Order: sequence, then structure tokens, then C-alpha cells
Amino acid sequence: MDDRLRRLSVHPGEEDRLAHVGWELAGKIAFNEAVAELSHQGYAPHPGTEEECEQRQVLGLARFQDPYGFTHEVYYGPTYNIGSFLPGKPMAGRFVGGAEGVGHVVFAIPEMTPEMEQFITGILGMELFTTLPAGRGPEARFYRCNPRTHCLACAIVPGHKGVHHLAIEGTHMDDVGRAWDLVQERELPITTTLGRHMPDTLISFYMRTPTGFDIEFGAQGERLDDDYVQITPATPEGWGHKFVGDGLPVTVRPVVSEEHATSEK
Ligand SMILES: [Fe+2]
Repeated sequence: MDDRLRRLSVHPGEEDRLAHVGWELAGKIAFNEAVAELSHQGYAPHPGTEEECEQRQVLGLARFQDPYGFTHEVYYGPTYNIGSFLPGKPMAGRFVGGAEGVGHVVFAIPEMTPEMEQFITGILGMELFTTLPAGRGPEARFYRCNPRTHCLACAIVPGHKGVHHLAIEGTHMDDVGRAWDLVQERELPITTTLGRHMPDTLISFYMRTPTGFDIEFGAQGERLDDDYVQITPATPEGWGHKFVGDGLPVTVRPVVSEEHATSEK
């Protein structure tokens, strides 16, 4: 999606699930500080092997699990090749990428525990952007770490856990419109129709991947700077975004036991 050599990787596995989420750090000093802090807080970061760094095309990485057992990696020094990105089809704009990363990932979790909140804000160091009460969709909490309004969000789905969706953003609305046409021409499963979110202003739609999680594709997402003042939208959607899918993504599964519902750390 940009000149980075790796953004998304698909691995063979026993079940369809999210293998890991990577969080980029500024450099080796920030990486070493993060590893020390994770160790100090009891998250036991596991250093990536040379082979793993090669596979992800980064200089260094460390892997650890959050209180719900989702695997995260912090890394630094990603490889890029200037001007190397060629889209798979003609595009009016480009993907939003670079230092803003892939987009955002949304985890479904049974409840927001103090441990998970502390992990996201205190350990990952993200800032709460906004929350949405349960209504037409589940209660959700959105967290940011760059100019995007959110990079990580949690949807509270009682009794369930798993990756809900991954969002990718384009710079031009025509690319979203063309993708919207294309998924319908190819009869791919749409789970939420075209519409505009209110907390973050993104115009997007959601489709189900063969793996079972959803991908949201949109444009016109708001960018926040230091002058940002928190505002609370009266409605979660400006327009559209009708749920038309079969319910929860397949990758959001019932939590089988109390043991799995809480920390696996
Ligand atoms: Fe989203």
C-alpha cells in the first residue's frame, strides 16, 4: 500500500485469526526503551529472530501479548524502496500510509477491563479519542497514536473475542466508489453499506474477507493535530452504514471459558 516492503502478511495457520499487530517505533532507542518498559511491567517481550525480522523487513522486533491474548509486536527500522509501490488496479489517489501506518484494527473483547485499558493507554501509550455507547452497534472505544483519529479500537461484545475489522484509507473518494462498485460486481459479501462515521468523519463501507474478518475501506478520515478538542457526536453515523451482513465477523468467536476471557499473560 506504500513504499514499505511489508504492510500486511498472510500466514498459513490452524484457524483463521489475527496472528499479530505491529506497532512502529521511531528508532532503536525508542525500541530499547519500550522493551525495557514492557519487561518491567511484566509483559515479557520476546525478541524476534533474525528470520522474523527478515520476514517482516524490519531491523528489530519484540513480541508480547495483551491481557486478552492478542499478539502485538513493536518494531523499528522498516525497509522501504522509494517509488516502488504499484497498485493492483488504477487509482485516482493513493493509500494513506507512511508514518501513519496501515489504518486501524478493531478487536472485539467481552468487556473493557482495567487491565486492558491500562495496557492500551499506559503500556502502548495511546490516547483515548472517543467512545461510542452501545446502540445500533456494540459499545466501542477508540485510541490514537498518530494524526489518525484511531489506530486501535475495542468493540465490547459480551462473551466474544477476536479481530473484528481492519480499516484501510485512500486519499481519493473515487477509489472508494470504484471499490464499492467492484465488490458488488464480483458479489463479494458487503457487511455495512457506504456511509459516513461521525466520530472520525470517514466515508467507508465494510466487506467480509474470505478469512472471516471485515475490511473497512474509506476516505476523508479526519486528521488531528495538537489543537484538537474532544467533541461528542450526537449520532454515530452521519448517513448510511446500514448493517447488511450476517452479524459478527467469523473471527469473533464465543469465549469458551472464564480462563480465556481474562488474562492469558
Ligand atoms: Fe473502523
